[in-house]
Amino acid sequence: MSAAKANAEIIKDHAGSEPVEVALVLGSGLSGVGDLLDNRVEIPYEDLVDFPTGGVSGHGKSLLVGTLNGKRIAILTGRAHYYEEGRANIMRVPLESMREIGVKTLLLTNSAGSLEKDIPPGELMMISDHINYNGQNPLIGEPTDNRFVNMVDAYDPQLRKQALAIADELWLTVKEGIYAWYSGPSFETPAEIRMIKGFGANAVGMSTVPEAILARFLGMRVWACSSITNMGAGLSDENISHQHTKEMALKGAKKLEQLLERLVGEL
Ligand code: HPA
Repeated sequence: MSAAKANAEIIKDHAGSEPVEVALVLGSGLSGVGDLLDNRVEIPYEDLVDFPTGGVSGHGKSLLVGTLNGKRIAILTGRAHYYEEGRANIMRVPLESMREIGVKTLLLTNSAGSLEKDIPPGELMMISDHINYNGQNPLIGEPTDNRFVNMVDAYDPQLRKQALAIADELWLTVKEGIYAWYSGPSFETPAEIRMIKGFGANAVGMSTVPEAILARFLGMRVWACSSITNMGAGLSDENISHQHTKEMALKGAKKLEQLLERLVGEL
């Protein structure tokens, strides 16, 4: 049995066999959404098969299944990153497991550095498209022709429209922009930030892109949003650090929680 099928069995044993159609991946410092779940079941990643536990502080290490605003949802309270093992497909088994339990829509969140003065720390940037500046791809080695994934409108236009309408109703400022994936774990140099901005990106971070590619490969709809924690290197005087990222993520987290709760309810 594949790891994903085995995980689906484990998840169903814990949380019941009713399908789960939505999954959410939480970025650094964004784990508060999990507290909004009703009928919450928690499964530690270490109890699942080939689920990377991730070694980054500020990230959870368990899968939650429950109901958010009336919808069954699975929440990955933390993710593993490319930079942990140098594997772009490190999230493949978790996402295949999500598909196996019925997930059709994947919501991705992250913390990111902004390249735009008008998207300052504490704000949200919904991802409209991405630049794979890392150059690695999670589908390298995939033998089937399905590997040639069309990435036009990878971030579902309908979901983006819905989310913007909800943000408007909630009086939340949410900008849209392009997210560039940098390998990490070191932060970018100011010269790299100038280059990435020149490429047309509006924010930069160390995750999400490989997961969006995998999710499109698996036939899921994708929506993604960055919580801006800092200006990119050299764009302000603040000292960029992981501690700072975790602290600042809390500022955007409340807005993200409000937005997600409504969006999930409308899916
Ligand atoms: N760069 C890359 N990743 C990040 C940043 C950044 O400035 N901030 C939070 N995650």
